[in-house]
Amino acid sequence: MTNPSRQTTPNPWLSIPPEDYETHMSSPGVRQQQFLSRVFHTVLASLRPACVAVPGCATGNGFEHIDASISSSVIGIDVNPVFLGVLYRRFKHRLPGLQLLCGDVSSVVLPAHSVNLVHCALILEYTDPGPVLARIARWLTPGGTCSLVLQLHSPHIATISSTGISSLQRLEPIFHLVEPSDVLKMMRPLGFSVAAETVRTLSSGKSFYQGEYRLVS
Ligand SMILES: C[S@@+](CC[C@H](N)C(=O)[O-])C[C@H]1O[C@@H](n2cnc3c(N)ncnc32)[C@H](O)[C@@H]1O
Repeated sequence: MTNPSRQTTPNPWLSIPPEDYETHMSSPGVRQQQFLSRVFHTVLASLRPACVAVPGCATGNGFEHIDASISSSVIGIDVNPVFLGVLYRRFKHRLPGLQLLCGDVSSVVLPAHSVNLVHCALILEYTDPGPVLARIARWLTPGGTCSLVLQLHSPHIATISSTGISSLQRLEPIFHLVEPSDVLKMMRPLGFSVAAETVRTLSSGKSFYQGEYRLVS
């Protein structure tokens, strides 16, 4: 398996326009944007984090559910500066504690033990997950939560859905499925225990795993 975080060619995400990305993610045959927004809403409502970090935040899907009176610190992380510009314009007024870090999740620097919730929805598939999860474990406060959404193998369904938006197909070479069972093997030695797990299948036929892992030691 190639390691996308260490690739020498530019990350294909850098060449995806935000309009293409959002049209693709919300298109009737995909509807992942709506699904991911709901997942983030549920996680925020149940955990009420004072500080939340979102690697792979893109243009801020689901950020409308962040209550600034609860989450006084919000850290968005993404490689694509244009995505972050869209997010900033949309949410800077509503979220005074918004901080955006443009860079690779495998190299951005966050203070240790400073984040209550790290929410990673469909980003591990573009990274080398082991080192990324180890970094997340260092960012979290004791008792903090790492929430993950992973795309599951769905027979006969393309991993990158075909929506007629050709730029998204550039992601195919760097996308790789990450098995929840492999994640668990990586999380346990880092001090995490499973707090919740669900699997959802969308009308497109694509299935997703959502897991919450509590940092217990
Ligand atoms: C499928 S989208 C994420 C969806 C989003 N989390 C949501 O809930 O709607 C993947 C995002 O991760 C970003 N990304 C991909 N690889 C990355 C990396 N190595 N470091 C930081 N961001 C990355 C992309 O630019 C893109 O915005």
